[in-house]
Amino acid sequence: MRAQDGRVMRLGVNVDHIATIRQARRGRHPDPIEAGHVAERAGASSIVCHLREDRRHIQDEDVRKLRAAVSRLNLEMSIARDIVAVALEVGPQQVTLVPERRQELTTEGGLDVVKLRRRLGPLIERFRGAGIIPSLFINPVATQIRAARQLGAPVIELHTGRYAEAISATARGRELAALRKASQLAAALGLTIAAGHGLDYENTGAIAQIPEIEELNIGFSIITRALAVGMDEAVRQMVRLIAEQRVDALQAA
Ligand code: PXP
Repeated sequence: MRAQDGRVMRLGVNVDHIATIRQARRGRHPDPIEAGHVAERAGASSIVCHLREDRRHIQDEDVRKLRAAVSRLNLEMSIARDIVAVALEVGPQQVTLVPERRQELTTEGGLDVVKLRRRLGPLIERFRGAGIIPSLFINPVATQIRAARQLGAPVIELHTGRYAEAISATARGRELAALRKASQLAAALGLTIAAGHGLDYENTGAIAQIPEIEELNIGFSIITRALAVGMDEAVRQMVRLIAEQRVDALQAA
């Protein structure tokens, strides 16, 4: 489905947790590469994986194999030196720079682009020079968006975790409003906007209706639904849901 400005609303499917299950037995199955293939065939525009510093799920070899197997790989990564080296060696189409703490269960907040600007600036240039699109995973906050733009990042991914985890309707509404406002600012600055984290089959609809957002990156909810209905059907259901919400939003506009 097309976004308001004519661009397509894309779905990136994160296959980390296929590797989580595999690593439980340190075997070969289930295979994140096969899952990536299936997700692409079911309508995913890109396959996402996070090479964490502790290698708890995705391994270096998975990244290499995914790069060869899928048409568009978005590698989530910290800015640690050895991870940057792997990214430059493998050359995915895109990297998404995220903050990383060893103890966390999943990425907990956005990158502090303001604080890290001296490290991020040269890194963004390096990736661009290598033909890799750098994206910054940030909270929906104006100072962070402006800093991302100043550093020359062409893409940002807005962290939807606070929206997804909001308990009351009021808090959810407030977080949704922050995401809408952030998307408008980022679009006015000429940035390409993605969003993700904690999105599922119930809460994705409202995010898919924000016209400036062009891509949603979703992992956990799709993989857990795949356990019941299979990967192909789980991805198709999410693709359909996003498309339907887009149509509704465009008709209402
Ligand atoms: N986007 C980014 C930058 C992430 O770090 C993650 C989690 O790996 C996701 C999207 C997907 O989040 P979830 O697995 O909760 O859908």
